[in-house]
Amino acid sequence: MFNKRVRIKEVLAGDFLNQEITVMGWVRTFRNNQFIAVNDGSTNSNLQIVLELGKFDESLLKRITTGAALKITGILVASLGKGQKVELKAQKAEVLGDSDAEKFPLQPKKHSLEFLREIAHLRFRTNTFGAIFRIRHSLAFAIHDFFHKKGFVYLHSPIITASDAEGAGETFHVTSFELEKPSQNEDGTINYKEDFFGKPTNLTVSGQLEAELAALALGDVYTFGPTFRAENSNTARHLAEFWMIEPEMAFSDLEDDMNLAEEFIKYIISYVLKNNREDLDFLAARLTEEEKQKPQNERSEMGLIEKLEFVVNNDFERLTYTEAIEILKNSSQNKKKKFQYPVEQWGIDLQSEHERYLVEKHFKKPVILINYPKEIKAFYMRQNDDGKTVAAMDILAPGIGEIVGGSQREERLDVLEKRMREMKIPVEEMNWYLDTRRFGTVPHAGFGLGFERLMLFVTGMTNIRDVIPFPRFPKNAEF
Ligand code: 4AD
Ligand code: MG
Repeated sequence: MFNKRVRIKEVLAGDFLNQEITVMGWVRTFRNNQFIAVNDGSTNSNLQIVLELGKFDESLLKRITTGAALKITGILVASLGKGQKVELKAQKAEVLGDSDAEKFPLQPKKHSLEFLREIAHLRFRTNTFGAIFRIRHSLAFAIHDFFHKKGFVYLHSPIITASDAEGAGETFHVTSFELEKPSQNEDGTINYKEDFFGKPTNLTVSGQLEAELAALALGDVYTFGPTFRAENSNTARHLAEFWMIEPEMAFSDLEDDMNLAEEFIKYIISYVLKNNREDLDFLAARLTEEEKQKPQNERSEMGLIEKLEFVVNNDFERLTYTEAIEILKNSSQNKKKKFQYPVEQWGIDLQSEHERYLVEKHFKKPVILINYPKEIKAFYMRQNDDGKTVAAMDILAPGIGEIVGGSQREERLDVLEKRMREMKIPVEEMNWYLDTRRFGTVPHAGFGLGFERLMLFVTGMTNIRDVIPFPRFPKNAEF
């Protein structure tokens, strides 16, 4: 068997002292023709390999370059050197894959995140991205763990659909037509009957509507999959392809929804604090370094670990949209005209500068805002008795802004149909959705958590393009 290797994470954890083991990994550095730092991706730490001087061929030593892949067999011994407890005294060394030192783009020095984005196929091999993607895995696992323990059913909502769940018209079309010569009707319009699905289709923007169908039978469900939005937002918080977690609960109202979201976020953050401490500590130190470049007044008050622990141990602030508008209107920031979008009247959509003011300056903790004006929210949200607001909730996180969007759903058929017509949602085409309201409708609620926004929060990274392996954004679909 080829792969009789021990992972470096296990080697560093103990157990193998004075035993013969084989490790495989990639060279990070090679010093004095003697000390190799090898990383195999199982942990942020490298294993030090020691080559006895004179024992190995000059030709082999020349091939041990940054980026090369090695297979080393040796005895694990206690290390006398600083920086590591154990090291591997090599008996056999083999180069599995050479790496031309002149051409390998990742030299052992600090590279900018912008540069690494251009070589996203290789950035996995850096400490920073190793830590990020191990944490991404852990968070994904913790998400399934949370819902599974609570008895939720994981629902695979479709990627290709004929509906625009959010009604915002930001969809990517799916077609098998040749774009230059689609089938046309006599009047020159496109004849979708001839297209693959026999009607216009698009990539999903949200699995919510399908999750509602399942929740009204299975009780509690969640989706966790990729979603797609053709919004032309070239920001550090938007992707064209992002992953979303969407729980949906029957027999639940807005308060149940808030309680679930808060418990959920606290659970998954506790999970990584417990299970990914080495990677989090690395990213925390990285963030502290980055912050030193900033002027004093722009630095965050808490370190990364402190911030995560704070979120786990404190209640989120809950208030209504109306209360938030009052706070913003009366803020010195607003009075001094320091917002790019001044807050003058009830009804405006909150900009990220407003969200961040509430979270970072005013409350200094995560905030749940509820009961938004119905005009700025989706058609499916339950209308409140005041005739003006809907039972929506957004969760705002420090440094990020909106991280969760959710609501209690409109379960009353007549009210829902009326709202859909007002908002020009094609009622007839959505008969399947309305059937849930026709047959045994119940109060129900759910939310969507943006997985990459959560990743930003947990890792302390500042650009969403750095927390997904291969980011999709306007004018970019590399790799
Ligand atoms: O607020 P949104 O649009 O809500 C929905 O899609 C609902 N159907 C969810 C539900 O109730 N089941 O999106 C939910 C979250 C946002 O709060 C944000 O975290 C994230 O998805 N999100 C994005 N993340 C990255 N890039 C984008 N372009 C995003 N758009 C939304
Ligand atoms: Mg939203």
